[in-house]
Amino acid sequence: MSEINWDLLWDEARKMLKLAYCPYSKFPVGAAAFTTDGKLITGCNVENASYGLGLCAECGLVSDLARQGGGTLAALVVVASDGQPVAPCGRCRQLLWEHGGRTLQIMTSNGPIAFSTLLPDAFGPDDLATRSTS
Ligand code: THU
Repeated sequence: MSEINWDLLWDEARKMLKLAYCPYSKFPVGAAAFTTDGKLITGCNVENASYGLGLCAECGLVSDLARQGGGTLAALVVVASDGQPVAPCGRCRQLLWEHGGRTLQIMTSNGPIAFSTLLPDAFGPDDLATRSTS
């Protein structure tokens, strides 16, 4: 996609904060992304009484990507309740790598950066494709 409408992504990520289900941490997270073909994808965190089963906002976003027919993530904003960027946790970096790879741009407090900065030397689908034994 040509020009990324970051303002729209900020707005959508902040809107998602209201849908977060986070009675345990009280730490809402909202996420919004564009795919390379221009689809808007969103997610929020959804926690569970069995604490370890909580879903991060990025998990919801990846599910929304599948629900909308899949594709490649091009640009992503993840925010905490102050509306400012929050760094994806380690597990979510791996989840996002699968669907965006090194070219996915993610917003930080210093502007967008390439996802490869957040997850250098990542393991991913290419490893399985080129190094499987059968
Ligand atoms: N959380 C996310 O949704 N994404 C992240 O990348 C960091 C953490 C959520 C998980 C949990 O519901 C809350 O923030 C506190 O950890």
